[in-house]
Parts: sequence; structure tokens; C-alpha cells
Amino acid sequence: KKEQYIMGIETSCDETAVAIIKNGREIIANVVASQIDSHKRFGGVVPEIASRHHVEQLTIVLEEALTKANLEFKDMDAIAVTEGPGLVGALLIGVNAAKALAFAHGIPLVPVHHIAGHIYANRIVAEMKFPLLALVVSGGHTELVYMKEHGHFEVIGETRDDAAGEAYDKVARTLNLPYPGGPHIDKMAQAGEATIPLPRAWLEEDSYDFSFSGLKSAVINTVHNAEQRGEKLIPENLAASFQESVIDVLVTKTLKATREYNVKQVLLAGGVAANKGLRTRLEEAFSTEKVELVIPPLYLCTDNAAMIAAAGSIFYDKGQRAKLDLNANPGLDI
Ligand code: KG4
Ligand code: ZN
Repeated sequence: KKEQYIMGIETSCDETAVAIIKNGREIIANVVASQIDSHKRFGGVVPEIASRHHVEQLTIVLEEALTKANLEFKDMDAIAVTEGPGLVGALLIGVNAAKALAFAHGIPLVPVHHIAGHIYANRIVAEMKFPLLALVVSGGHTELVYMKEHGHFEVIGETRDDAAGEAYDKVARTLNLPYPGGPHIDKMAQAGEATIPLPRAWLEEDSYDFSFSGLKSAVINTVHNAEQRGEKLIPENLAASFQESVIDVLVTKTLKATREYNVKQVLLAGGVAANKGLRTRLEEAFSTEKVELVIPPLYLCTDNAAMIAAAGSIFYDKGQRAKLDLNANPGLDI
């Protein structure tokens, strides 16, 4: 049987990414052009700027991926593209490029949900074992997803307000740290101690939902109160206390769901999966469980196209195709 090559295209937020995956799991090329420097001075992603950068970068990134792989479009079995969720203008660049390429080269087009992509990043480093549970923590999402087989996604819990990464970025802004703040808070937290009491939103006893806006507000209030009283806060301790609160809830709920749903495997996914504290605490918590925990390497946690191609490979095998009227869907449900 000949090799299968899937090209992934991801433009849902502020990374222009193209990857080529061989036989569903092997990375042949994985190119990510980050726009972080262009958004930094605004303290967050500016949608219009993101779209413009995608337009400028995408053809360059496409060529670089093909050159690295030493392949041509005609070698591709399919083009997988993020159809949503994300910024509509940003998504449209990738979707339209994918449609044009699929049409011009006669290649099947496979639509991929961005979160499915984050989850399938794990398939590049581990074999997926069902039923499984994925903890998806990114700038836009915080979800516990139950999967009984490939392509089946059941959201058993999600954030009711801010996503975990969003809370990280907002807290970082309060501490005058550059965007994206997650990695900075992570670093500071490691240098500090969790001495400041902050709330944990456990919600209802039987709920796997999350809430981080109360915690975010508590951090902001703590900073303002200290300023008013002229007290000096140790930012490292505040970062550590905030991180502790986030991780506490994420790890506890994931562990509870793991036991209740009796899963074989737990996958970590999304940009916040790069968090050192979260990775360590999850490893500790699962070291005594009879379930396999998979934590992908950092370059597969934050947005990339290898994860889109990896998910696309599974969906392609299942016969899923998009027509050339595929549209970007910013609010797409998994
Ligand atoms: O998955 P991602 O690249 O984009 C979305 O789909 O949202 O996630 C980006 C988010 C940002 O909020 C960023 O601050 C956060 O992931 N992040 C981190 C770390 N690295 C990235 N948060 C906490 N600790 C980190 N080390
Ligand atoms: Zn993402």
C-alpha cells in the first residue's frame, strides 16, 4: 500500500501554519509562522491584523512545508483545513486557500474542528486508546471531552465564562506582562509560593464545567487593594497562587471524570497544556492511577497544523469530505 500524505492548514487565530503528515502520525513538515510580535503592542490578538498576516504568510508557509517535505501538491491524498472555531476573517484565509488548492489539484478537502485538532496532536506521539478523556485547555477553550471512538466527541464539561488561557492572559496583563501571558505567569509561578488565598470555582457537585472569571477578578482585586493600601505584593507569589488555583480545579475534575467514565487514556491538549505546573501536577496525580496519561511535547500543544493533518487523516479515512462551498464557521461546535 502506498504512503498516505495529508496536508494540514491552520489559520484560526494568530499562527499561520502548514504541515504534512505521513500515514496519519509521522510529521514530514511542520511550519508555523507566529504573529505574536505584531499583536504584542496591542496586548492581544487584533483580528484584522491577524487576517492580513495570514494572507501575506500563507503562500510562503505552504511552499516552505512542501520544500521541507520534498513533495508536491499532487503527492497529497487530502488537504485538511481548520473550518472553525476561531476568528472568522482568519479562518477564511485558510479555508479559501485549501478550497483553491483542492480544486486546482483535484485533491479531496477534509474539514477539521480546531479542538479535534488539538486532541489529535496526541496521536502523533501516542496510540489513542478508547474510551478516552481529553482535557482541552487553550486561549479560547476549556473542555473535558469524552471520546468512545475516533471522530466521536462528547463534551462533558466546559467553561461557563473565561477559558483557562484567557484567564492567564488577563492576569498577565494586570501584572504588566507581555502577550501572550501564559508562559510568563508559568515561569513566575515556578519562582514563587502560593501564599495568597484565591477562590476555586468547583460549581455544582456533579458538574464537570469550569469557571475562571471569578478567579481572574479576585487576582485583579488583590492587585488593586494592595496598590490602594500601599502594600507591596510579591508578583511571583501571586502568579503561583493563581496558577495553583487553576491547576487544582483542572486536575481534580479531570481525575474525577477519569474514574467516573472509566477511560483507558487521558490526553492533554491546547496551548495551556504547555504549562509546566499543570504538566507536573497531572503527572503526579495520575502516577497512581491505572490509566495512561499522554502529554504532548510543547510544539504540539500550541496552535500548529500537524495536529490538523493528524485529525484530518482519521476523518479522511472515515470518508469525510467537504465540498467546495465549505465556509469558515467561527462558532462551530465539536
Ligand atoms: O491553543 P493555543 O495556541 O491557541 C488557542 O487555540 O487558543 O493557546 C494559546 C493560549 C494562550 O492563552 C497562552 O497564554 C496559553 O495558551 N499558554 C500558556 C502557556 N503557554 C501558552 N498558558 C499557561 N502556561 C503556559 N506555559
Ligand atoms: Zn488552539
